[in-house]
Amino acid sequence: MSDVVRSVYYDQSEILRGILQLHCPAGFDCDITYGNGSFYKDVPAPRLKFDIDPQQTAVEKACSTKLPLTNGSVSSVVFDPPFLTYIKQARAHDSIMARRFGGYWAYSELEDHYKKTLLESYRVLQPLGVLVFKCQDIIHNHKMYCTHASVIEWAIAIGFRVKDLYVLPAKNRMPMPTKNATQKHARIFHSYFLVFERDKKVLDSTKVIEYHSNTVTEETDMSKCPVCGESQFKSLLGMNCPKGHLNAPPQPKEKPMTEQATAAPAIPIDKLVQIYIKIRDKKAEIKKAFDAEYAKLDEKLSTVATELKSRAQSEGVEGFKSESGTVYLSETMKVTGSDWGAFGQFLKTHDPLEFMEKRISSTAIKAYMKETDGQLPPGVSIFKEIEARVRRAGEK
Ligand SMILES: C[S@@+](CC[C@H](N)C(=O)[O-])C[C@H]1O[C@@H](n2cnc3c(N)ncnc32)[C@H](O)[C@@H]1O
Repeated sequence: MSDVVRSVYYDQSEILRGILQLHCPAGFDCDITYGNGSFYKDVPAPRLKFDIDPQQTAVEKACSTKLPLTNGSVSSVVFDPPFLTYIKQARAHDSIMARRFGGYWAYSELEDHYKKTLLESYRVLQPLGVLVFKCQDIIHNHKMYCTHASVIEWAIAIGFRVKDLYVLPAKNRMPMPTKNATQKHARIFHSYFLVFERDKKVLDSTKVIEYHSNTVTEETDMSKCPVCGESQFKSLLGMNCPKGHLNAPPQPKEKPMTEQATAAPAIPIDKLVQIYIKIRDKKAEIKKAFDAEYAKLDEKLSTVATELKSRAQSEGVEGFKSESGTVYLSETMKVTGSDWGAFGQFLKTHDPLEFMEKRISSTAIKAYMKETDGQLPPGVSIFKEIEARVRRAGEK
């Protein structure tokens, strides 16, 4: 590569090298959609690697919208999400399937994933940290979705500024879907590497950022929740009631992020409740039938497995090979605590992190926060999600 970094390269490694040279001279800190690591064929791999569906053992499973990282703990984030929508396999609205097949069903799902990840990247990045966001515009059903422009708009609304923009022309493209279709738009032959810089705001470890669908709310001075009167804690995106009350005070500085933000729900609440209950009942019915069928198959499978095990054991072998496959005996070990007091004593002289699973007790953290007026122990982050739940009339 020449000394002058250009905005267009035909090889993504050249773009990544340019970004490293100009914006991340110490190397990339964290890749949150690591995939098979193809970004790092010719440039050094990041310190932290995450993916929702890890393909390598060195990659930790995590959703880009909920990273196991503390506020302001990384200097750069690389994000290369799927960019296709209307992927058939995503039609079941099963997001894991959608991810596996590299796309989303509706554009709103892509938008939601991108916005939430922008927000999460903002949280984990240190002030003036760098976000590298790879994206591509798409055309579906004769409609142009100018994703790179939307990403810039969403990122700026959260507190990023655009630092650089690179274009990667595609080397190959799949043929047009319909042979004799009249072309209405230029065939998209390039993707973008957008480089953002986070603003200087410092979020201390007790701050929680919440994503409010389609809106980003700036800091306000309201200190009490209007519902319960509890002292609220301030986050970048507004005031948060420690009891999680939804009826947040009127947000004076609300900025719509998309046109959808102003669309009022037309369906009456009771109708929505009825629909909710109907879908939930249907789900329960399908699950019950599925569980029964599954249990029958499990039982049959276990009968066959028991027979194979006893044949191997009576012949004194570790396994067999047959035309259809291989059988091998494998040992699993289950560990349970039979005397927690004794084990607790043992842990006093041994490293508990070596002998225990690394999962933090949310009950203990909640109790600690209550005792310490919302403080968190060092090295712990919390994520809160608010969802609507429905209780059937007459149900307790
Ligand atoms: C375009 S591929 C990544 C390409 C990657 N840069 C590479 O070189 O392999 C998209 C990746 O995003 C991951 N992904 C999709 N949704 C995700 C999510 N919510 N959180 C984290 N990773 C996700 C997929 O598993 C996939 O590995």
